[in-house]
Amino acid sequence: MTMAASMTIQPGRPLKGTISVPGDKSVTHRAIILTALAEGVSTVSSYCRGEDCLNTMRAFQALGVRIEESPDVLQVYGKGMWGLTEPTAPIDCGNSGTGIRLITGVLAGQDFFSVLTGDDSIRRRPMGRVVKPLRTMGATIAGRKGGELAPLAITGTRLKGIAYQSPVSSAQVKSSLLLAGLFSDGLTTITEPRLSRDHTERMFSYFGIPFRREGCSVSIEGRPAVRWAGKPVLVPGDLSAAAFFIVGAAIVPGSDVTVRTVGMNPTRTGILDVLRSMGAHIEVLNPREEAGEPVADLRVRSTPLHGVAIGPELIPQTIDEFPILCVAAAVAEGTTTITGAEELRVKESDRIATMAAELRAMGARIEERPDGMVIHGLGQAGRNGRLTGTTSSSHGDHRVAMSVAIGGLTAATSTVIQDTACIDTSFPRFEAKLLELLTESGKSL
Ligand code: S3P
Repeated sequence: MTMAASMTIQPGRPLKGTISVPGDKSVTHRAIILTALAEGVSTVSSYCRGEDCLNTMRAFQALGVRIEESPDVLQVYGKGMWGLTEPTAPIDCGNSGTGIRLITGVLAGQDFFSVLTGDDSIRRRPMGRVVKPLRTMGATIAGRKGGELAPLAITGTRLKGIAYQSPVSSAQVKSSLLLAGLFSDGLTTITEPRLSRDHTERMFSYFGIPFRREGCSVSIEGRPAVRWAGKPVLVPGDLSAAAFFIVGAAIVPGSDVTVRTVGMNPTRTGILDVLRSMGAHIEVLNPREEAGEPVADLRVRSTPLHGVAIGPELIPQTIDEFPILCVAAAVAEGTTTITGAEELRVKESDRIATMAAELRAMGARIEERPDGMVIHGLGQAGRNGRLTGTTSSSHGDHRVAMSVAIGGLTAATSTVIQDTACIDTSFPRFEAKLLELLTESGKSL
């Protein structure tokens, strides 16, 4: 059990300096899974040491894979596609939707029994979106509410490929089915309404696992002839973690921040497009590629922002950044509307409700809609506005906690955020990094 910590934000200084952020959470999950199923030893460097990914690491250890952990590198002794063994106890995926849904896909096609569970938030989140199509593939999965909710009990079976039209654009659904497809007879095709993040596909390419993409469809031939060998994976910095400092630098006057080696996968960079359309000043420096993923350094300087319309076509590539975008919109000049974002209601918290509540308590003017929100910014005449310091709650959601912290930097008085232990799920040392940027600005005063 982690203790419910709190964080106090003392505003009044710009953010300045050059920093790095944790490794990408999505890429780290996939790196652990695919190196565990590889033949031979792999290293996973600059990985995300958040609890979510550590839980995925522990899950594969419980499935018989030797993984040696050091702060910078995981050494994974892959057991090949058919080398996993039955866990002796339920596997706890903690707070991680990606962890539980992707691992469910892997376990559905094994020849043993397993149980997956997680924390209170995970046990409220929809699992039917993976359970239903996996059952169509022949999987035997039981769970609360007919398999809609975890814990999930999986009796591994021989699966068969299907063609599945997903009602949601979800990389977790797509990846769960792609991983199940690896262990299935025949072809598995997943089609989604809009392209979700493609880290699984990129990592398949990196390991030489064949698949086909056509528009928003991706297909994989099961039980592939190839057995992929372990190799080093270098995880890019997490743009979703960098986003807090990017928005902080954009909205706190006098800021100038460079974040090094950030993942720039186009299925993730919606935040940069939205912020630029709001008037943000973001430079992309030194673009390059690492382990099949584009990366760059990002430099952001403060500018006045203005409201924009964010519609359904921008949602998948921006999905995790809405909490922090709400902060940008709340201080911008003019109105921001977000539509087609109903998926936000089934994240670590209902992010439409939790962000509206927390930002309203800080003086923001927000209307909730079933599929988004309307935010009337506090900025005026080419100046960003200021939120009001208050005592807020994270609602157990790491991104809500970090977003409120950044919002607090614009206030005249301090902001206390309660229940901040959840930040460790994705961004251990967030507060220390933020202080580093505030201190750096203190040095140049
Ligand atoms: C993720 C996919 C997204 C995202 C989540 C990470 C992934 O969820 O919100 O934080 O790594 O596949 P959905 O697939 O449910 O949209």
